[in-house]
Amino acid sequence: MFTSSTRDVPDPRRVPRHVAIIMDGNGRWAKMRLLPRIAGHRKGVEAVRATVRAAIEEGVEFLTLFAFSSENWRRPAEEVSLLMELFGRALEQEVAKLHANGIRLRVIGDTSRFDRRIRELVAAGETLTAGNSRLTLTIAANYGGRWDVAQAARAYFAAHPEGLAPGAAMNPEGLEPYLSTAYAPEPDLFIRTGGEQRISNFLLWQLAYSELYFTDLLWPDFDAAALRAAIASFGERERRFGQTGDQVHTGDA
Ligand code: IPE
Ligand code: IPE
Ligand code: MG
Repeated sequence: MFTSSTRDVPDPRRVPRHVAIIMDGNGRWAKMRLLPRIAGHRKGVEAVRATVRAAIEEGVEFLTLFAFSSENWRRPAEEVSLLMELFGRALEQEVAKLHANGIRLRVIGDTSRFDRRIRELVAAGETLTAGNSRLTLTIAANYGGRWDVAQAARAYFAAHPEGLAPGAAMNPEGLEPYLSTAYAPEPDLFIRTGGEQRISNFLLWQLAYSELYFTDLLWPDFDAAALRAAIASFGERERRFGQTGDQVHTGDA
């Protein structure tokens, strides 16, 4: 189990152990070039490859990427189906390479809504790479932060059929083992590309004490230098977790 930032104060570190990214701006990248939106998504897959490589070089242990939100089904049917096609193809083409590079793949989100081919590719990829430990790459697909909290509550009560005694408080940290990211520490650094400054139903619970970093770069233009810039910004932050600055400086928790 990992530290819960609302129960214990995590150890300070210069390099984020877990980086979570909202990869936004593919459509605008394509539009600026008078290309169809899917061309931006395709280019976005290349930025994913570069970012995975860079994350390993920087010493990041967990990288979580928002690929498709539970609200992205609201897009035109054609874009949704092209995105599904791209996701399937990326799984087919990349999983062996991830494995060869010692990367563990996890997919979080309600995958029950995906077609069988994608569900099988996800399961096979997770199984193949389960023993790897160089980097854990998590793809959030049909993921929503509210869905995650709701499914965790459901799993909690499935594991505790006795329920709560009348009037008993529910301990927030008690829910954490049931979140879809229970295998990872909380994100230290959250990055959103594309210029918007919002969470868009990403990791609502897990981002409680993450450092937030926003960049106007569109996702297809994100690269190793951009990741390094975000990590450098993280290194200059003072994370206080509710304490005073003096407590942080003297290490007197
Ligand atoms: C992010 O890029 C990728 C997905 C949400 C699938 P967008 O497609 O949202 O790009 P913009 O925001 O329209 O530029
Ligand atoms: C968030 O981007 C979801 C992903 C990057 C997968 P959106 O483009 O869907 O977010 P909004 O709609 O601008 O908030
Ligand atoms: Mg967008």
